[in-house]
Amino acid sequence: MSEKLAPLRIGKLEAEFPAVLGGMSIGLTTEEAVSKFVKLGGYGTVAGVGGGLEEGIVTSRDYLERGYEVLGDRIKKAKNLSKNNNVLVNLMVAVTGYKESVGVAVQNKVGGIASGAGLPLDLPGHVMEYAEKYDISPDETPEMIPIVSSAKAARVIINRWQRDYGEQWEKIYGKTLLPSAIIVETPNDAGGHLGAKPKDIGTSEYSLETVVPQLVEMMGRYALDAEYKLWYQGDPEVPFEIPIIAAGGSWDRGDIDKMLALGAKGVQMSTRFIATDEINAAQEFKDYHMDNPNNDPIVVMTSPVGMPGRAYENEFVRRINRGERIDLGPCVNCLQRCEYRDTKKMSSYCILRALHNVRMGYVNDGVLFTGSKGNRLKEDRETNSSMVKIMQEITKAA
Ligand SMILES: Cc1cc2nc3c(=O)[nH]c(=O)nc-3n(C[C@H](O)[C@H](O)[C@H](O)COP(=O)(O)O)c2cc1C
Repeated sequence: MSEKLAPLRIGKLEAEFPAVLGGMSIGLTTEEAVSKFVKLGGYGTVAGVGGGLEEGIVTSRDYLERGYEVLGDRIKKAKNLSKNNNVLVNLMVAVTGYKESVGVAVQNKVGGIASGAGLPLDLPGHVMEYAEKYDISPDETPEMIPIVSSAKAARVIINRWQRDYGEQWEKIYGKTLLPSAIIVETPNDAGGHLGAKPKDIGTSEYSLETVVPQLVEMMGRYALDAEYKLWYQGDPEVPFEIPIIAAGGSWDRGDIDKMLALGAKGVQMSTRFIATDEINAAQEFKDYHMDNPNNDPIVVMTSPVGMPGRAYENEFVRRINRGERIDLGPCVNCLQRCEYRDTKKMSSYCILRALHNVRMGYVNDGVLFTGSKGNRLKEDRETNSSMVKIMQEITKAA
């Protein structure tokens, strides 16, 4: 095992190592973490949501307006600090202001948009609309990277893209409308919101061992069709491929090699990096992740988003599980549909403020998302607080 790792190409982008730092909301992966990761040879993902949640902001409008400013600023800074364009942004379909956030990303010429938490069915439409509005050339238009948990979801997205936007896309960009890459995130191991029903989590149907090969095969066929078309038109750009990037549970080089052996061209990693110096969070947040001082178990919990989430079962989660409805402050309408805002349901809370509180260091007053391997951070605190050291460990040839 463990040859030198191959570069990862996503559309017109290329990174030395096949690793993506996953976007972590809210506000954990900002310019510092992203640019460091990019400089170390991977792709970094700016967390796209929640930038508008600042002291004194209580209305939905102010939250959204400020959020767009912060997002644009973070993308600009991440690109400037990185000195290349391997900067992605994570935009979640379920949030309010999704379309406008795509606009901010396009306007600021982000390298790519990774989009999940719902199916990004209209992403190409938004991208084309804003590329035209801001006069962004095809070379500077972001790569589009859906995040899915099954091959079926990817097929639904591509069919809708091609049906609704395919013709227009071909006219503008001269090629078949397809994702530049697919991130497949397994609900069995990933942290944060999970793209499966609770009963399906942990099943082999949703494991990367099952879904990665399915997607490799499926995207291979799409790529071949598109390539044939290009070849037929005499385009010298062929051949091309649509890389599959595996997310969830990658911790060390052995895990990465396993994913590559399944046919993935890269991995997305988040939990391993959550307590590194560059992550935009209070020290209390990082200490909790490093120490897990109360030995809280990692559980699948409910979120008002309507998706399950993987998190530590801290005091806050225990209160929710006991049936409390917890008021964390004014609602800024961050979600298109929110169980907490829209119903009187018990066992509910504001997910935006719950994530914000822990990032600010109030680790008992919110939700600490983590992947299934979170407890391994304490095995080697020195390495796990350093992005440089983790990258050295996972990229060196054995
Ligand atoms: C604290 C935390 C926050 C996350 N936030 C987001 C997010 O905002 N959007 C998203 O698409 N994925 C999010 N994720 C999922 C990760 O980006 C990633 O795909 C997944 O956690 C990878 O698995 P790993 O943590 O085992 O490496 C989050 C994960 C964690 C741990």
